[in-house]
Amino acid sequence: MNAIILFGSPRKDGNTFRLVDALSQSLKEKGIDVRMVYLNDLNIRPCQGCLACLPEGICRINDDMKDIRKYIFESDLIIYASPVYWYGPSGQLKLAIDRSIAFFDKDYNSRVKGKKAITVMCCADEDADTFTPSIEMFKRTFNLLGITYIGGVEAPSCTDKGTIRDEFLEKAKKLAEMVP
Ligand SMILES: Cc1cc2nc3c(=O)[nH]c(=O)nc-3n(C[C@H](O)[C@H](O)[C@H](O)COP(=O)(O)O)c2cc1C
Repeated sequence: MNAIILFGSPRKDGNTFRLVDALSQSLKEKGIDVRMVYLNDLNIRPCQGCLACLPEGICRINDDMKDIRKYIFESDLIIYASPVYWYGPSGQLKLAIDRSIAFFDKDYNSRVKGKKAITVMCCADEDADTFTPSIEMFKRTFNLLGITYIGGVEAPSCTDKGTIRDEFLEKAKKLAEMVP
């Protein structure tokens, strides 16, 4: 089984990374091949809404999304990881999600149907309801794309780097156990 992590935080040593690292280590222990993609390091242009991608699944924009699309097709499990930025995922991750319109064909059938997804998020607020708009967006997006949502881990009260509580790292490890 192959997994891809779409890592949406610009900080490679922050709270999102700690969560992803715990999840990823447990996935690797299960024998799953995990590929990490640091979206912030890549050139991903915003979707232009031209829908030229629908017939063949090929986007007109020639940038790093081309490789990411290939990696997603090669993966059984997609991990969407991001801090909450203004009640949504980071711009880095949202750009990649917008470009996922190329996963539809011209009849809006999904080309990624049957893949599985996990979400990993953290935020500074101590109120876990802060994650609600993002999780709702993920659920609806997965539903449209025919992706099975395995579940997510959401860590509140992550203010500075390293403030993430161990209980959430444990939850990330437990989540890995739920991957079939
Ligand atoms: C641009 C920006 C927007 C943010 N928006 C929110 C928010 O709406 N709610 C919240 O609780 N935290 C918000 N935060 C805080 C981050 O979610 C939090 O610090 C998180 O732990 C950062 O993750 P990282 O260490 O992986 O970078 C925001 C931070 C930034 C930089």
